[in-house]
Amino acid sequence: MTALNFVGLLLARIAMGPDPDDGSFWMPPQVSTVARSVDWLFNFILAISVFFFILIVVVMVVFVIKYRRREGQQAQSSPSHNTALEITWTVIPVIIVIVIFFFGFKGYLDMATPPANAYEILVEGQKWKWSFNYPNGYVDENLHVPVDRPVRLVMSSADVIHSLYVPAFRIKQDVVPGRYTKVWFEATEPGEYDLFCAEYCGTSHSDMLAHVIVHPPGEFEIWLEKASNFLETMTPVDAGRKLFQVRGCQQCHSMDGSAKTGPTMLGVFGRTENMADGGTITVDENYIRESILEPNARVVAGFEPVMPTYQGRLKDAEIMAIIEYLKAPAGASQEE
Ligand code: CUA
Repeated sequence: MTALNFVGLLLARIAMGPDPDDGSFWMPPQVSTVARSVDWLFNFILAISVFFFILIVVVMVVFVIKYRRREGQQAQSSPSHNTALEITWTVIPVIIVIVIFFFGFKGYLDMATPPANAYEILVEGQKWKWSFNYPNGYVDENLHVPVDRPVRLVMSSADVIHSLYVPAFRIKQDVVPGRYTKVWFEATEPGEYDLFCAEYCGTSHSDMLAHVIVHPPGEFEIWLEKASNFLETMTPVDAGRKLFQVRGCQQCHSMDGSAKTGPTMLGVFGRTENMADGGTITVDENYIRESILEPNARVVAGFEPVMPTYQGRLKDAEIMAIIEYLKAPAGASQEE
């Protein structure tokens, strides 16, 4: 973006004025119970920084001009110190940082302590997809939550460090392999918001996106029940297609014949593959199942053994649906 473009966008944005749904000029919308206090503290620190920046620069410029070296004037030695001045410039900043600490620490405690009745959702990050696991076992690629109810996320990673970031809620928390991290929020406004990965995690880090859908009162339960029944309400091929998208398969396995991190799944069923160890196999139900549960047991030549296992993460019926989807003719695989 050129500087001129940027200035143009900036002016256009200012001219639009504040839009409550869209957040302020600096900030995304405030959609959680902590958003206001986070923004207040941010603005407080920003205002103090601007105040002192201007004060120091103005005084510096004035002094440079006023006390510059001039013809016929001798430099005078400066007084050794001024007790009143030194106490003032020590006490005032100390009070300011105590205020910042007080509100920062209070906000931190609020954000670190979920209410006892919080609704719990398990989150898993993997390259490069988020999975949200609801209490009934249903897994979705987006985070659906009820409005006005505390929600606690218990998070882990299947591979590297990711970071779950929802700007509208003002929450950000690392998601680390081998341990559980937690974060909570209470959404205050139904709508759809962005969820990002905020920790560089490899090639498709910037594609590791999801939506947060905040449901109006009563609608979250209806959504969850309907979404959870997909294995019964959809054909196995459709259910398999949904799982293939939702569970992160398509991040690495294309459906158009191109190789990504893993081999393409276009026409994979019945294909003869050369293996990394020199042998060959013909892809059948057993090999697909094994590759889902023990991905690195037999790897296709030319690919790295980097796929995480889905052991314990997919039910048998779900694995069967994925196999049916991969078996389906290419036409069925590509329709959306
Ligand atoms: Cu996951 Cu960046």
